[in-house]
Amino acid sequence: MENIAVIGAGTMGNGIAHTFAQFGHKVSLIDISKESLEKGISTIEKNLDRQVSKEKISIAEKDSTLKNIKTFTNLKEGVKNAELVVEAATENINLKLKIFKELDDITDSNVILASNTSSISITEIAAATSRPDKVIGMHFMNPVPIMKLVEIIRGYSTSDEVTNSIMNISKKLNKVPVEVNDYPGFVANRILMPMINEAIITLNEGVAGVEEIDTVMKLGMAHPMGPLQLADFIGLDVCLAIMEVLYNGLGNTKYAPSPLLINMVTAGKKGVKSGEGFYNWNHGTKDLIVAENFKK
Ligand SMILES: NC(=O)c1ccc[n+]([C@@H]2O[C@H](COP(=O)([O-])OP(=O)(O)OC[C@H]3O[C@@H](n4cnc5c(N)ncnc54)[C@H](O)[C@@H]3O)[C@@H](O)[C@H]2O)c1
Repeated sequence: MENIAVIGAGTMGNGIAHTFAQFGHKVSLIDISKESLEKGISTIEKNLDRQVSKEKISIAEKDSTLKNIKTFTNLKEGVKNAELVVEAATENINLKLKIFKELDDITDSNVILASNTSSISITEIAAATSRPDKVIGMHFMNPVPIMKLVEIIRGYSTSDEVTNSIMNISKKLNKVPVEVNDYPGFVANRILMPMINEAIITLNEGVAGVEEIDTVMKLGMAHPMGPLQLADFIGLDVCLAIMEVLYNGLGNTKYAPSPLLINMVTAGKKGVKSGEGFYNWNHGTKDLIVAENFKK
């Protein structure tokens, strides 16, 4: 599979495009927003510069990676030569169903359609197409160029052949793919998100402050960062969308999203991407400053 199309140039899409391009694939990066595409390419450039300065890649590899990526705002043009499409658009079921229905209409019937969704049912997305055997979850982790894991989600109808070919291409990207079945939140977010949600409930109940909660989990459990900082990185809107999928899909009140999480997303406080979440990110990322609302 030489030609890859990536849909969505946000947090995940630009990282996925970067990774495929770095390993020699021709990548079409597609987004409805021109601004997102520009921001995505500039993020890729910055991340490649960081890889060069850490001597992980050469300047020539940086240049060839950038050369391998072309941007499109038109879906049909962007997926024209693709052998694999990886969708990484906003986490919204109706949007994903619409995109996959359209992809099914405009791509050759052999093309594999993968979704980077964090939690939405691959089986349901596949059912919007006439090729459910060729629809699969390819769940990369953030930041994509660095994180080793790809959670490979088999929908109810995903074929062995398609699963094997996605496992193989993930290995060629120097990742470690892990095959899981299609249930709400898969494995990664079924375990991670309730922990993040519980940290938000703990904060809301006044058990401890932002820094205290994150320090307990960082130093006590040897997590690389606390759950509230991680929520800011993931995006609070993404966290809320995943909790809603767990709550609706598993039907247990233990998955109910924290009212504080709902309030913050409604107020536009989405974490790093909006400049503020539990921490204030407008000053840069080095020293964590707790957001005004959570100061004691
Ligand atoms: N943020 C994370 O840490 C993380 C981790 C793993 C998986 N995911 C999943 O990856 C996907 C993308 O998440 P994100 O965090 O990158 O979101 P994001 O908000 O950063 O980016 C989403 C992008 O999709 C674009 N988009 C919206 N509708 C589109 C359409 N019809 N066609 C093309 N582009 C469209 C938006 O303009 C935006 O640039 C989601 O399914 C999310 O659940 C996110």
